[in-house]
Amino acid sequence: MKHEVIEKNVNLMAVLIVIVISIGGLIEILPLMVSADATEPYEGVEPYPALQLAGRDIYVREGCYGCHSQQIRPFRSETERYGPYSVAGEFVYDRPFQFGSKRTGPDLARVGRRYSDDWHRIHMINPRDVVPESNMPAYPWLQDAMLDGDDIAARMRALQFLGDPYTDEQIAAAAESVAGKTEMDALIAYLQNLGIVRSAR
Ligand code: HEC
Repeated sequence: MKHEVIEKNVNLMAVLIVIVISIGGLIEILPLMVSADATEPYEGVEPYPALQLAGRDIYVREGCYGCHSQQIRPFRSETERYGPYSVAGEFVYDRPFQFGSKRTGPDLARVGRRYSDDWHRIHMINPRDVVPESNMPAYPWLQDAMLDGDDIAARMRALQFLGDPYTDEQIAAAAESVAGKTEMDALIAYLQNLGIVRSAR
């Protein structure tokens, strides 16, 4: 009887649906906002140095997440292939996170130090040169595009404002630390750092 009242009143039903979904959402989200596991950086995880930060932005700009995830699930099939499973504390300085949900290519969460810088450079310019059956696109222009140091310093300042513990000295030194570097250098620096704090143990 009471149920009929709800079923025949679309506004009431909409309000009740919103309430139920909100409760479910809060139960999922709130613990993550207060739990130290999710808000404290994993031991050894630091805010991205200027060059890696630039590389991360290029990773996002080029849409690498469309084919690569950065999240290793706690299953044997994943840990045997990639390394230790991902934990929330590894991603506290990732804005936005790059978990991804599509694996056309392999997961990259532990790719750091798996290959040499030269391997990455050749692979980015033309993936087929190192993996003949690869269907990954080529990104040759990264080799020619130079980084803009002032732009990177501004990004670091914005992240500092949001609470990332960059020091003023780090930001002041940012432009100089990326002087003469290409987008390719930045992307490789970013890739070489992925996941190493956790794969090292
Ligand atoms: C259309 C899908 C696609 C896109 C977009 C893509 N990749 Fe890939 N990637 C692949 C595939 C497939 C492989 C496996 C074959 C190979 O190694 O080339 C791969 C392999 C890789 C590897 C080697 C991983 C390993 O463990 O062997 C790296 C590193 C990589 N990609 C980085 C990138 C980066 C950085 C970008 C963005 C600039 C990118 N990929 C964009 C499909 C993609």
